[in-house]
Amino acid sequence: MAGNLRGRHFVKLLDFTSTELRDLLTLSASLKANKKAGSRGRALAGKSIALIFEKPSTRTRCAFTVACVDEGAHPEYLGKGDIQLGKKETVADTARVLGRMFDGIEFRGFSHSTVEILAEHAGVPVWNGLTDTWHPTQILADLLTVQEEFGRLEGLALAYVGDGRNNMANSLMVGCAKFGMDVRIVAPESLHPEQGLLEQVEAICAETGGAVTVTADVAEGVNRAHAIYGDVWASMGEEDKIAERAALLKPYKITPEMMAATGRRETIFLHCLPAFHNLETEVARKFPEICEVSDEVFEGPRSRVFDEAENRLHTIKAVMVATLGR
Ligand code: CP
Ligand code: NVA
Repeated sequence: MAGNLRGRHFVKLLDFTSTELRDLLTLSASLKANKKAGSRGRALAGKSIALIFEKPSTRTRCAFTVACVDEGAHPEYLGKGDIQLGKKETVADTARVLGRMFDGIEFRGFSHSTVEILAEHAGVPVWNGLTDTWHPTQILADLLTVQEEFGRLEGLALAYVGDGRNNMANSLMVGCAKFGMDVRIVAPESLHPEQGLLEQVEAICAETGGAVTVTADVAEGVNRAHAIYGDVWASMGEEDKIAERAALLKPYKITPEMMAATGRRETIFLHCLPAFHNLETEVARKFPEICEVSDEVFEGPRSRVFDEAENRLHTIKAVMVATLGR
C-alpha cells in the first residue's frame, strides 16, 4: 500500500496523483486502527528523523514526534535558534549535513523555497510541515476526517471561509480537487487565490470530476456544503496584519447562521487549529474582533476539530511510513 512512494519527498500535494493520495489515506486509516487496537508498528525502527521548526507548532511537532516513537524511530527537534539554516550556512549545506546523519527531515518555516532546497540536497525524504504557501500534511488529516464522517469524499462540497490566499486555502483547493470534491473558496476579493494556482486546480478538476468556485458571496459559497472550514485570518508571520484582516473578514466569521445557511443539517465544522473562538487567549483578549469562528460553532455538535487534530498523527505517520518505512 502506497509502496510506490518510497524515497519520495512530501512538499506539496501537486506532486502527487489522486491514487497516491488515496493510498496515503487508506494507510492512515489502517495505522489509526492498529493504534486504537493497542498495537504499534516497527516500520521506522532504527531511523533518526530531524524536525526543523522555524515557526511554532503544537499539532505538527507532536504528530511527527509521536509518530516516530510509535514506529520505533528517534525524533530530534531542531528549533529556530538551534541550527544555522540560512544564517551562517546555506540551506543546501545544512541539507547535505543532515542528510548524512538523518533518515528523514521535516521542515516547518516561512519560505516554501527552503523546503524545496532541502529536498533537492538532502538525499533523504523531506516532509513539509507548513510553509507560507502550502500545508500538505494538514490536508490529509482534514480529508480523513471528512471521509470518516461521510464515508466518501468524491462529490462532497467543502467551503473554506476566510483568507483565500494562505497556505490552507492553497492546499485545500488542490487536495479537494484531487479527490473529485466540490471546493469553494469564500473570501473577499482582495484575498482571492492566485490565478495561476486556480487554473492548475481547474485542470485537476477536469480530470477528477471535481469543481472549484471562488466567491466573495458567503451565501453562494456555503450553499449545500458538507463541511465549512476555517483558519486564522492572519497566519504566522502576519501578526502586523491582524487589525486590517479583522476589519476585512468580519462578514466571513463562521457563526451558527452560516452553518445553517448550507441548508444541510449534517454540515460539519473543520479547522486546522489553532483557532480564535473565545477571548481566553492572550492575542484574542488584545484583539477580540479577530475570532474567525464563534464559540457556539467551535464547541457545537457539528464541530469535528479535535478528531481532525488527532488525525494529524495518523496521517503524518502514514507519510513517513510510506516514504521511508520498510
Ligand atoms: N494545524 C497545525 O499545523 O497546527 P500547529 O501549528 O500546532 O502545528
Ligand atoms: N494559515 C495558518 C495555518 C496554521 C496551521 C498559519 O500559517 O499560521
